[in-house]
Amino acid sequence: MTVAAPSSPDVLAVLTGLLRDAALLVERGTATPADVDTAMRLGAGHPAGPIEVLSALPPEDRDRLDVVRPAEPTGTTVTDEATAGAWTGPVGVVGTGHMAVGIVEAVARSGRPVQVLARTSASGARLLGTLGRSLDRAVSRGRLDEAGRQDVLDRVSVTEDPAGLTGTDVVIEAVAEDLDVKAAVVGALDGALPSSVPLATNTSSFRVSDLRPFVGGERPVLALHFFNPAQVMKLVEVVVPDDVEAADGLRAAATAWAREIGKTPIRCADSRGFVVNRLLIPFLNDAVRLHESGVPVEEVDALLTEGAGHPMGPLALVDLIGLDVTVAALESMAAVEDDPRIAPAEALHNLVAAGRLGRKTGGGFHSYERTR
Ligand code: 3HC
Repeated sequence: MTVAAPSSPDVLAVLTGLLRDAALLVERGTATPADVDTAMRLGAGHPAGPIEVLSALPPEDRDRLDVVRPAEPTGTTVTDEATAGAWTGPVGVVGTGHMAVGIVEAVARSGRPVQVLARTSASGARLLGTLGRSLDRAVSRGRLDEAGRQDVLDRVSVTEDPAGLTGTDVVIEAVAEDLDVKAAVVGALDGALPSSVPLATNTSSFRVSDLRPFVGGERPVLALHFFNPAQVMKLVEVVVPDDVEAADGLRAAATAWAREIGKTPIRCADSRGFVVNRLLIPFLNDAVRLHESGVPVEEVDALLTEGAGHPMGPLALVDLIGLDVTVAALESMAAVEDDPRIAPAEALHNLVAAGRLGRKTGGGFHSYERTR
């Protein structure tokens, strides 16, 4: 496969931080070069992974970027394992927001029952409404028939009681990106569920280890990190800290499960942002700064869609992720990395303060007539 290097100096300039960070993640051992590339292809839809792009750059461009060329991708770390089929039963999902409903749809469409833990009956009903509309769209596009739609809905049940998730193979929390909120949620689940049930976080920017103090020592904990829109994007980052008991078995069960629900798993170390968000979110911040320097929103987006083949412009992507989520992720990563590039750009703070959180509020950098 031939990978095209970025088409212009302007494109390379805005991608520089991402490419440098990718080389850094490989150097730190966060993930293999192949998994870094798979992560960005399947988690962000990039036409080529950053290590592949670095390899395709002319030597003079690489010298200008001042990165050591990392080893060539040599294959993924995730291989077929004997534990396939360890988690074939019901799955718990905690939360009713955009990520939660995408995960519910992805899992339920794979044939597994899903038990959703909602805060209130109203938020549970909202999740079911959003799920129904998404399935309607799949039916109207011929991707699902009416009977299949009903089967998916029949597999999803909602409870407001953490103990209602008893009997699930794994529970995935997808609540607000706030450590206090996540800590309270995993603490409540830990108190309500048998200690053998693994608790997974879908965090954008915390480490699994940041949540460990809030659960009992014997409970398996991990991250199963999905990407927005979760029913569409193929990647799941599987993160099991090495000091979790029986870490290898847990990793194997989780990666097999991710494959069985139709996703591609990669593995990475337990560091803030894992692979995709550690690369993508600071890059989105760079794009916001480029806009702040006077480049119109549409031009910033076109630079990357037309110049680098990205499926969405970075500012449209911030709108999809949510400006509040983007700021929270940047702040969480900035707290542990001394890099001024990661501090949220002022325009992000200003738009959040004005209530423009992205698609979910009808507008962010762009305006939307309707949210999907
Ligand atoms: N919400 C829900 N579903 C959506 C959607 C949205 N905003 N946009 C598209 N879809 C779904 C629909 O089901 C659609 O199928 P349908 O049209 O038959 O209903 C399907 O995706 C394909 O949509 P399109 O035909 O419009 O396809 P596109 O070619 O435009 O692709 C995309 C859409 C897959 C969203 C593509 O633009 C893409 O890959 N964008 C990059 C997304 C990305 O980078 N995500 C990662 C963000 S980081 C993250 O999530 C981590 C978190 O921790 C912050």
